Amino acid sequence: MRILIIGATGTLGQPVAQQLGARHEIVAASRSRAALPVDLSQPASLQQLFAKVGEVDAIVSVAGSARMRPLAQLSDADFQFGLENKLMGQVNVIRYGLPHVRHGGSITVTSGVLSHRPMPGSAAISLVNSGLEGFARAAALEAPQGVRVNVVSPPWATETLQAYKLNLPGGRPAAEIASLYVQAVEGHATGSVIGFPE
Ligand SMILES: NC(=O)c1ccc[n+]([C@@H]2O[C@H](COP(=O)([O-])OP(=O)(O)OC[C@H]3O[C@@H](n4cnc5c(N)ncnc54)[C@H](OP(=O)(O)O)[C@@H]3O)[C@@H](O)[C@H]2O)c1
Repeated sequence: MRILIIGATGTLGQPVAQQLGARHEIVAASRSRAALPVDLSQPASLQQLFAKVGEVDAIVSVAGSARMRPLAQLSDADFQFGLENKLMGQVNVIRYGLPHVRHGGSITVTSGVLSHRPMPGSAAISLVNSGLEGFARAAALEAPQGVRVNVVSPPWATETLQAYKLNLPGGRPAAEIASLYVQAVEGHATGSVIGFPE
């Protein structure tokens, strides 16, 4: 398979690219650290990327940001940031990406544990993650026949918990989380939110 990975250089993206790269050709993209430049918060940037890359068998987005901040401190701009970046950025990965995916292929985007296990400070992120899951479930119904659409909902990566000195339960090594993306790309699910059983 030829697989475009947006966010291939991140904490989760690196092991995803490594595991899928063992069996498939990887086309790596990110704002600055990967071979191909893209900013998913900019619709024109995404369209340029897809035009340059051409046809693929799978698209994986392991990127997207939203602001972690107490509700009373979240500004309009903070909400707008997450909506344009992690939410609409990945909605557009699906919208613009679908015509570039070959029959039998898939698109996988990323939400996260905070959609269903919120914590104080996560309101803007929980909003975006839940919105993305709802969109992807519906978009899968209208994808061209033979093209699957899924969301991976990662738990906290232990590397991220350590980096931010967070003491939260349920963390898993990024290499284990990457197996969820392998499942999404190589499996048969569509319209699914793929995570570890809780
Ligand atoms: N790590 C966790 O514990 C965890 C848990 C649940 C959900 N998630 C979600 O998983 C995704 C990846 O998280 P991560 O921890 O691996 O993040 P990360 O380590 O910060 O890596 C993000 C990756 O995406 C790229 N990127 C960032 N902004 C981008 C943009 N606007 N356009 C295109 N590429 C962009 C980065 O490269 P450049 O800097 O070169 O752009 C990098 O390759 C995020 O959506 C995050 O919310 C993570």
